[in-house]
Amino acid sequence: MNKHYTYLANWKMNLPLNEALTFISGHYDDFVLLSKKPHTQIVICPSTETLYPIHQMVQGTNLQLSGQDCSQHTRGSFTGQVCAPSLKQAGCSFCIIGHSEQRLFGCDTNESVAHKCAMLLDVDITPVVCIGENLEQYKNGKTLEALSEQLNPLFTMLTTHQKAHVPILLAYEPIWAIGTGNVATNEHIESTLSWLAQETSKKAPLFKWKLLYGGSVKAENIGQLKTIPLIDGFLVGGASLDFEEFEKVVNYV
Ligand code: PGA
Repeated sequence: MNKHYTYLANWKMNLPLNEALTFISGHYDDFVLLSKKPHTQIVICPSTETLYPIHQMVQGTNLQLSGQDCSQHTRGSFTGQVCAPSLKQAGCSFCIIGHSEQRLFGCDTNESVAHKCAMLLDVDITPVVCIGENLEQYKNGKTLEALSEQLNPLFTMLTTHQKAHVPILLAYEPIWAIGTGNVATNEHIESTLSWLAQETSKKAPLFKWKLLYGGSVKAENIGQLKTIPLIDGFLVGGASLDFEEFEKVVNYV
């Protein structure tokens, strides 16, 4: 049986508006073709100002769009923030929240990530909740403790949140693997994802969960990662900025 995978191309803040539009229009047919591949969902995550123009280019195709963050509020005096309804109107069907770069350089906390998830579920945007341990926690065998702390406010929020028309994607991204070229071992990913599968089914059984992996995913290591049965998809950063490399990640069977 062919496995269904979701691939998120997380462009981060690497492509300003003009470069993002050039990138997508230069590979438009290739992107559309890739998104037609059976059992495959391609989600492009450009920076916020690029979402709407890209939406206008790709609407009507299978390509999906994701924000890279959203506000935990719907409106008000929150200079610089973007609310979930705006993301929806700009064409997003997914949104990354709690990325380690937002936890580190923005002001994300475990609680704010839970609020953001609620905002996204309210407008039927699929949340892509990022969690992951740092190097020290990894070396000290504290991965599950770190993840548990990150997830607790989310599970609490979900007990009071009825609406779930969309799945929740839980992206396990060891912080020490992001942008470093160091991929976690299959053994570490498998044991972490199997714990996550148990936790989600125990603590938020009414929601449909999908488990993603992210952190230095590229053509060179995708074969090894695709042998892990619990992985439903990948968050691809650096490798998604090179179309041919991203295509190899998606096309690897
Ligand atoms: P990377 O980034 O693939 O460049 O490691 C992944 C991510 O941050 O989502």
